[in-house]
Amino acid sequence: MTESKNLWGGRFTGKADEGFVRFNRSFGFDRRLFDVDVAASLAHCEGLRAAGVLTDAESSQIKNGLRTIIKRAETDSRYFDDLPSEDVHSFVEARLVQLIGDTGRKLHTGRSRNDQVATDLRLWLRAEIDRTQEKLIDAQSALVELAEKHSAAAIPGYTHLQRAQPVLFAHWCLAYFEMLERDRERLSEVRKRVNVMPLGSAALAGTAYRIDRELVARELGFEDVSRNSLDAVSDRDFCIEFIGAASILMLHLSRVAEDIIIYSTAEFGFLELSDAVATGSSLMPQKKNPDSMELVRGKSGRVFGHLSALLATLKGLPLAYNKDMQEDKEALFDTVDTVTASLEVTATVLRNVRVREERASEAAARGYMNATELADYLVRKGLPFREAHDTVGRLVLRAIERGVELQDLELDEMKSLSPLVKEDVYEALSLEQTLATKSQVGGTAPERVAEAIFAARTRLSSS
Ligand code: ARG
Repeated sequence: MTESKNLWGGRFTGKADEGFVRFNRSFGFDRRLFDVDVAASLAHCEGLRAAGVLTDAESSQIKNGLRTIIKRAETDSRYFDDLPSEDVHSFVEARLVQLIGDTGRKLHTGRSRNDQVATDLRLWLRAEIDRTQEKLIDAQSALVELAEKHSAAAIPGYTHLQRAQPVLFAHWCLAYFEMLERDRERLSEVRKRVNVMPLGSAALAGTAYRIDRELVARELGFEDVSRNSLDAVSDRDFCIEFIGAASILMLHLSRVAEDIIIYSTAEFGFLELSDAVATGSSLMPQKKNPDSMELVRGKSGRVFGHLSALLATLKGLPLAYNKDMQEDKEALFDTVDTVTASLEVTATVLRNVRVREERASEAAARGYMNATELADYLVRKGLPFREAHDTVGRLVLRAIERGVELQDLELDEMKSLSPLVKEDVYEALSLEQTLATKSQVGGTAPERVAEAIFAARTRLSSS
């Protein structure tokens, strides 16, 4: 095992403290940037060649060397471990010099690790955003599948976690579909700002070589080049934005999780998780626990933590680069890992949940959730809504006293509170009617929900 020489030895005469060396090192985690670091180096090399800084021969030697490094890393499982390095950038350079000799030392001309790391992070994050989008689409598909499979089932809708009005179970599914749809939009917005190239900013002041930055950007698939070198090496707002969008996404998943957890209790009993995504208790033999969803709910907190950590890390930093910024990586990496795993597990749970349609629909038809419907019925017969509300309130009170539902009250009894009530009230009070009347765009009427399912499918297939 050979210790790679660090990149800045010349000015130093003393030996570094071992503890500090370990503390300073980011290679333990930033090796994840290896592929993009090499890709950025390939493009930089081309920039140097086009600028006449490197000869064609030197540039091909460097490029071949870099390609060999990539291959070695793929095949040799100890490749990263037998050359301890300060960070991924030092590692790549050390490997290159080891492989091709002194020409390798020319690669760092006109760049700094400061613009390098910002470039790497953006390249890495861009690809991860694309992967996250795919996971999001899959979770959305799982929601649509579930909605389609149970398109006729109703559940109680809640406000304040008190039974409010019945809704279709598919409507519940599509509520989360919409939230995830906005998450996708947010991520594509973030991607636009991620896709800007800092390379060429060098340490902070810009590069002294006539490197065609546009050319380098094209090589790397960047949409644009950064316009201010101080800004380009200093800011991590693209990471914060991503973690912000990821936080909202995790918040949505956490709410899905919470609903599923509650709905699978004996008390609610609308859902049952399959054995594939539940666990048992080491002590209580009867238990079936929704650990999968609890972990998604729990892990959301961790992503929110990364968001505030990064905000706090950056808030007091003077321009330009400061080593504090090395702290961005673990927050970003863990956010991506957490979001990816949470999206995958959520999709799996959604595909492994049994909907107890009968029990859910029965619950949806009880608990006076048709009271608003009765008020609307009276409104249709000409009563002002406020009066209708009051009349129905009194009817509900009566029904509660009797221990029956509104639809179980005798017609005469209803009439005694409002002469507007006619025989057709019973039809109005049915679950079917209660759902069917919510027929404006965005409502839970079956025809609207069927359209919404279709629209959701179309959106998914066009993305
Ligand atoms: N490992 C460093 C980071 O992650 C790379 C940049 C180092 N730059 C420097 N001037 N020390 O931020």
